[in-house]
Amino acid sequence: MSEQRWSPDSWRAKPIEQAPAYPDAAALAEVERTLAGFPPLVFAGEARKLKKALGRVAAGEAFLLQGGDCAEAFGEHSADNIRDFFRVFLQMAVVLTFAGASPVVKVGRIAGQFAKPRSAPDETIDGVSLPSYRGDIVNDIAFTPQARRPDPVRQLDAYRQSAATLNLLRAFAGGGYANLENAHRWMLGFVKDSPQSGRYAELAGRITETLAFMRAIGLDPEAHPEMRQTDFYTSHEALLLGYEQAFTRIDSTTGDPYATSGHMLWIGDRTRQIGGAHVEFARGVKNPIGLKCGPSLKPDDLLRLVDLLDPAAEPGRLTLIARFGADKVGDHLPALARAVKAAGRKVVWSCDPMHGNTVKSPSGYKTRPYERIVSEIRRFFEALKAEGLHAGGIHLEMTGKNVTECTGGARAISDTDLRDRYHTYCDPRLNAEQAIEVSFLVAELLKADRGALTRAPANAAE
Ligand code: PEP
Ligand code: CO
Repeated sequence: MSEQRWSPDSWRAKPIEQAPAYPDAAALAEVERTLAGFPPLVFAGEARKLKKALGRVAAGEAFLLQGGDCAEAFGEHSADNIRDFFRVFLQMAVVLTFAGASPVVKVGRIAGQFAKPRSAPDETIDGVSLPSYRGDIVNDIAFTPQARRPDPVRQLDAYRQSAATLNLLRAFAGGGYANLENAHRWMLGFVKDSPQSGRYAELAGRITETLAFMRAIGLDPEAHPEMRQTDFYTSHEALLLGYEQAFTRIDSTTGDPYATSGHMLWIGDRTRQIGGAHVEFARGVKNPIGLKCGPSLKPDDLLRLVDLLDPAAEPGRLTLIARFGADKVGDHLPALARAVKAAGRKVVWSCDPMHGNTVKSPSGYKTRPYERIVSEIRRFFEALKAEGLHAGGIHLEMTGKNVTECTGGARAISDTDLRDRYHTYCDPRLNAEQAIEVSFLVAELLKADRGALTRAPANAAE
């Protein structure tokens, strides 16, 4: 394919899916002009650092933990929510690092994850049809004509919320909260009396012992910044392209264009058309890019997308996020993984076990059974191992709160429990306990993979 010149607005000439129908084009243009004058949320150098870290994941030397809300919401913006999310995320990372014996690259679905693709442009309730809710950056979830009208001014609020969230996250990550000496204290809250608490407390105890041992032999943990702070990155789906264009800035060091709305952007399963606007936008920014891979994606098309999105075969540039469903991953993933490998391409393969496992519960709630989530993760690891590839990461919809949105898990949330604390604005999320439970499972799978790797030469000699 002969490539045409890219510019931050070249996507506008391409067919576009999932674009909100803004009734006032002039007001939208005015907001986009305003956003283009606002300071960036992240810096190019940070995106490059993440790309480098993801390059290590692609090489099989680290693991990607990516997760957060399906959709951030204006009404849920509080320090408590951000702290609770960050705390459970740190716990998960510690489990993966220590129990899974793997460095972990931490990427939140946060500080910008506002725009949602929908299965239909309209929603009909009792004979009344209104535009679908597309995330707080576009319209309001209330079912009234006024609330559902796409309003560009909401983009300014999404920017402010992202900036405030990121500010707190930077303080948590760099200001002592993430100090490994605090691993015990991250247990506060409802997880403390959860079925996972014993396992986690034991692990935190081992970390404390290790730190004490280091001190005893004369190593000062405090002298190592990696003990006191952590690298935490942000990501979201690059869906609302006018907003993304406004935050595309030229990096003064390299002269390259970077999306500065978040460190990593991904393309959703509904907007990955070759020749479409979303792929066009993403191919030109230098950030790490994710691509959701669902059941309708064919190996040939994936190879074309890999060429388009990662023409220079840069380590860490591309993360392929498999989201097939527990019953489909075994049918689809092997052919895609084999094709990418045969083309000599090194990517990060990550598992989103959420979006292919959504079901309607008998009580009418959209939910995801924990067993299916776990089953997709296991099959993902098996499929990649069979191809001689590294299961590089996990992509979760999760929260630090004690919600009841996904059924199952150690506390066996039932269909009738769903109504208790079903708070999501979009898809059902793992609660903090379920998220930690998943991380223990992934740690075991990672450890088994490592064992297989280190045993391989001995087996080969037999
Ligand atoms: C999402 O990640 O919230 C999402 C909509 O996923 P997908 O594009 O894989 O359906
Ligand atoms: Co979702």
